[in-house]
Amino acid sequence: MKPAVIDTDPGIDDALALLLAWNSPELRVEALTTVAGNVPVDLASTNALRLLALRRPSPSPLVAVGASSPLARPLTTATRYHGEDGLGDLGDWPAVASPPTSPDAATVIVDAARRHGRELTLVALGPLTNVALALKADAESVGRIGRLVVMGGAVDVPGNVTPTAEFNMHVDPEAAHRVLAAGLPLELVPLDATRQAVLPRAGLHAALAQSPGPVAGRIQAFAERAFRIGHADGEQGMALHDPLAVGVAFDPSLVKWEAVRLAIGPDGETMRVSGMPNCRVARAVDVDRFFGLFLDRLCPPTSRRPASS
Ligand code: BDR
Ligand code: CA
Repeated sequence: MKPAVIDTDPGIDDALALLLAWNSPELRVEALTTVAGNVPVDLASTNALRLLALRRPSPSPLVAVGASSPLARPLTTATRYHGEDGLGDLGDWPAVASPPTSPDAATVIVDAARRHGRELTLVALGPLTNVALALKADAESVGRIGRLVVMGGAVDVPGNVTPTAEFNMHVDPEAAHRVLAAGLPLELVPLDATRQAVLPRAGLHAALAQSPGPVAGRIQAFAERAFRIGHADGEQGMALHDPLAVGVAFDPSLVKWEAVRLAIGPDGETMRVSGMPNCRVARAVDVDRFFGLFLDRLCPPTSRRPASS
């Protein structure tokens, strides 16, 4: 069981990714660090707390609030897809406490890097602002982590916010540039890979029907918005962007990898450039095996009971 920190901006697919991580025995998720991205950071943090209250993983990870805006530009959110609240605008989430004011996300990442070094897997599911701030605070310690798995980029495929840029990279290109330049053991899971993992609505519903209860009901409810918007946009289901990043964090053999040298363009483009590789990029996905793991683990029978029982 490897110690992990997940940096996240929940987000519907972030939520599915967290549920997958909490049910994956290969990972021990010690902390969730939140970042502005899909929604402002206060909502991302509230959503992290909502999901913790829903699933109640044991041990419960620390939650640390991170950057409220990208390093050098205003925040662009993705509320059309995820909803104004980031989790499908259900309107009836049980109240949760206010997110803690300290320690902040960068401090928590640095602390985990110092304590675990090569053992640590850092999984980044949103813009890379917090990771860049952690590097600024202590590049040497962060440079010693074992793995940095990042969902982001569109290498040989079109982007999803501009013709050439993917959302997480587009929101904070300056942070992405710093992270890429830092020489970290970077494993990128771009749209090239995640667009292979498009889960049909019926597949999710069938899996949730195996574990009926409040957790399954809530997952189905917040996921519905992503299916609805996706179908309106001509898609066959929901691309499991962030869950695939968690999947490769616990099982890198779920994808084929290519060592690549990338540079970040001004809009957050992930461009191939010549020279020594500075990351490896997920290419072909073993989609059947990934879907099997994802659907088995998302809402296993142990999570059937109501959160209050
Ligand atoms: C990424 O953008 C966000 O909207 C998703 O949560 C995911 O991290 C996909 O481009
Ligand atoms: Ca995300």
